[in-house]
Amino acid sequence: MNSNHILTLVNKFKTVRLPTTANANRFNSGLSKTLRFDGQTAVLTGAGRGLGRCYALLLASRGANVVVNDFGGTRSGDQGEIKEQVADKVCDEINQKHASCGKAVANYDSVSCEKGAQNLINCAIKHFNRVDILINNAGILRDKSFIKMSIEDWDQVCNIHLRGSFLVSKACWPIMRQQEYGKIVMTSSTSGLYGNFGQANYAAAKMALIGLSNTLAIEGKKSNIYCNTVVPMAASRMTQDIIPEELAKRLKPAYVAPLVAWLSHKDCQESGTIFEGAGKWFGRHSLQRGRGKYLSGICEYPHNEDERTVELISENWNEISSLQAATQVDSFTGHMSMLLEEFENNPDKVDQ
Ligand code: NAI
Repeated sequence: MNSNHILTLVNKFKTVRLPTTANANRFNSGLSKTLRFDGQTAVLTGAGRGLGRCYALLLASRGANVVVNDFGGTRSGDQGEIKEQVADKVCDEINQKHASCGKAVANYDSVSCEKGAQNLINCAIKHFNRVDILINNAGILRDKSFIKMSIEDWDQVCNIHLRGSFLVSKACWPIMRQQEYGKIVMTSSTSGLYGNFGQANYAAAKMALIGLSNTLAIEGKKSNIYCNTVVPMAASRMTQDIIPEELAKRLKPAYVAPLVAWLSHKDCQESGTIFEGAGKWFGRHSLQRGRGKYLSGICEYPHNEDERTVELISENWNEISSLQAATQVDSFTGHMSMLLEEFENNPDKVDQ
């Protein structure tokens, strides 16, 4: 999807009447306690601008000490001679605030390098003595159609999004395990969930992060480490030539920050889940599994020439491919129990 596609959609929905702020606020009754992060340390990668900056400002405003990491390069991940001191600017914003705000330190390591990832976590320990929250957010873009995509374009994008999130998580994992507490947030994208023209590298890395997050949620459970994935949508440097100006006003990066802060809070019990935050809309993504069909006529090849196996798939394609009556599957155990139920309901001769 390019900016023209998005603009067409915006124009289509422009006439929809939106509730006024007063109307919208009518529904905000039943206020809960203020959620704070006093005494906790959050490490945020790629937080010198855009979404990461907003996450850092919000967490710090609620008492968290934050390590603002950003390697200060271009959108495509080049660093050139001079690094932009973006992380310092964010830290200045935080450190000039009132006393109930946490402290901030800047870090300029690249998350995609093993030493850099370790330095980042060492920096958090040196200044604040613990790491409670890790927001893997750093990212670059190198969009090209698959035919034109170089191996370097593939490697760079996968290195920063996927390897970077792996390396920083790996560096803070022993600390979180030892303190028996941790909150990790990975950052995916609709490009990963649905695919997007020109983003084979980015989409692959972003979808892989969901697999990483799901597994860390399972492995972290006994140590009280939670891991979730966010799918943000926001106007930032990354999307400056993709999101039209009109829509950008509705997609402020700061609007996504409360979702990430909640997933990072000790009261939030969610783990291994995917949440989207776009503008002021928040929702959950999940995998679903079609009802499918058990085909007892399927057999090993070759038994005899008359056996219809491929034909059986073709003839039952409507039921196999249908998502009507689909069920949500949350875990491998759930997946297997559905399969075993099918086996139980369809006793079969044991194949030789
Ligand atoms: P942004 O370009 O404004 O910020 C990303 C930051 O990451 C930059 O400041 C950059 O210098 C930093 N960075 C890049 N490589 C780094 C490295 N190796 N080490 C440390 N820092 C590095 O982008 P934005 O929009 O704030 O994106 C944040 C995350 O959200 C990214 O992972 C992006 O893929 C993801 N995302 C954003 C969407 C959007 O609509 N803005 C949509 C879907 C996902």
